[in-house]
Amino acid sequence: MMRANTKNIERLKDRKNAVILAHNYQRPEIQDIADFVGDSLELSQKATKTDADMILFCGVDFMAETASILNPDKKVLIPDFGAICPMSQQLETEELLDAKRKYPDAEVVLYINTLAEDKAHADCICTSANAVQIVELMDSDLILFGPDSNLAHYVRQRTSKEIISVPEYGLCPTHHQITESDLLDAREKHPEAKVVVHPECIPEIQEAADHIASTSGIARYCKASAEKEFLIGTEVGMLHRLEKEIPEKRFYPLSIYAVCPHMKMHTLEKVEMALETGEPEVTVRKGVADKAREAIERMLELSR
Ligand code: 13P
Ligand code: SF4
Repeated sequence: MMRANTKNIERLKDRKNAVILAHNYQRPEIQDIADFVGDSLELSQKATKTDADMILFCGVDFMAETASILNPDKKVLIPDFGAICPMSQQLETEELLDAKRKYPDAEVVLYINTLAEDKAHADCICTSANAVQIVELMDSDLILFGPDSNLAHYVRQRTSKEIISVPEYGLCPTHHQITESDLLDAREKHPEAKVVVHPECIPEIQEAADHIASTSGIARYCKASAEKEFLIGTEVGMLHRLEKEIPEKRFYPLSIYAVCPHMKMHTLEKVEMALETGEPEVTVRKGVADKAREAIERMLELSR
């Protein structure tokens, strides 16, 4: 394949009035050409504020769908249509509807890592940055929460509300690979380092951590901390942002195998091609988008 031309990417962006939004797990070269790099909450907030005609979303399916739902009049592109988060596929709509019938007094808080069809059945959406806050702000003391059971564990530790996981054991395959033995090895090599992890990690890793936060929350914590060394328990793409923004500190991955292959599907070549051709476009059926938008906008309102 032809090598990407970053100057051409800039020219195409200007010509098409496009903005490039990228998640913290993207390849370094994509983070470096993006207009904004952030976590799921920040990216959805950015998507409501742009006056570009076109959004090129370097992230996974549910993120690009959210941008499209929030911008029904803009064209939303994703460089590789195959960038599908496996967790977003783990919630079966029928299982969610069954749970709603079984617990009619419960409110539904869905992680943003879900498909638009499921978001349409939620009372509110949350991300790893605001999950506890959103659950606390709901009227009901009984919450149906899905699909990540590790994030559900994180929330349960911080609220008195009853949290029912739907499905019972949803998880992120990338974070699930970070084990206690990785933590032991890493601590042996870097005994001075603080352990900072994402709430998609398993409960044992969460409990051992010094701090738990969303991807951008991890960056904010490391920047503000007086410490100089950190063991990072999340997808390894995060290390690029940390090293670039905080060059005076040292960062080590808890596991070098914590790679999200779906996030890594986008390349500069595919970015250039998408801007050139205006494809692949992410669209969400109007009826579904209208309902899902209510739950996403409620989250944005409650997160202000
Ligand atoms: P953040 O919202 O913390 O960036 O997490 C998104 C994600 O998919 C983590 O695996
Ligand atoms: Fe989905 Fe996990 Fe990849 Fe995040 S890291 S996009 S939750 S598979």
